[in-house]
Amino acid sequence: MDTQPHSLQGQYALVTGAASGIGRACAFALADAGAAVVINHLARSRDKAREVVRQIEARGGRAIAAAADVRRADEVERMFSEVLDRFGALHILVNNAGVQDDAPIQEMSLEQWNKVLDTDLTGQFLCAQQAVRLFEMREQQDAQDGEALGKIICMSSVHQAIPWAGHANYAAAKGGVRLLMETLAQELAPKKIRVNAVAPGAICTAINRAMWEDEANRRKLLTLIPYGRIGTPEDVARAVVWLASDESDYITGTTLTVDGGMMLYPAFRGNG
Ligand code: BGC
Repeated sequence: MDTQPHSLQGQYALVTGAASGIGRACAFALADAGAAVVINHLARSRDKAREVVRQIEARGGRAIAAAADVRRADEVERMFSEVLDRFGALHILVNNAGVQDDAPIQEMSLEQWNKVLDTDLTGQFLCAQQAVRLFEMREQQDAQDGEALGKIICMSSVHQAIPWAGHANYAAAKGGVRLLMETLAQELAPKKIRVNAVAPGAICTAINRAMWEDEANRRKLLTLIPYGRIGTPEDVARAVVWLASDESDYITGTTLTVDGGMMLYPAFRGNG
């Protein structure tokens, strides 16, 4: 799939958790498609975020870094008003920031539960709420037919649907993301705001390093992926750009799975 060059020219996008991994790849791809991008990051990732900005500028794009912990309503609010001050508008939100903190259920602390739910689910709610407020500030006539007033892309996971032993907090959060996304899509379609999700499978990032760095784990993981390779952040970013562009204008409330077939129950090949 080829991204449409400059299909996002003149648009402003905010990507949460954009200092690394899938978020960073989304920021690069959105910038390559012509959008000016806000690189959201945690305060401790400032240097990494600045490097993303630097690389986008070196490629001729436009970006700014904005620190905010998506779990904190006050920080999220401050970040979106900064976006309004700096850019004057917002067209695209990529709700990407997410963490894993795994434990068997008997050992999972409330802190671990809350950390994952707060980041992966509540963070998406808080940012979506602020983004809708900004989208609505754009003049209604700005949005012609075939052009939405705003686009939200929620980073979900195959685990919005696949139960995952030892990861109850993460699976619960991503299951929540799915219905949050679908509900917002239903609620906001009359305002011409499109809300969709991307559900990555196993993508090579820091979140699952233990699974692809170790050769035995990697081989085990590959048995779950019919397409025979672990995904890259760029695989996901291309899907995000398409969902953010007018190429997908009639699509809302949908999850685009980017998983090399992980959701096709490969364990049933020659079985069952
Ligand atoms: C998780 C990864 C995992 C993948 C497939 C993702 O949502 O963050 O750690 O490898 O799902 O199970």
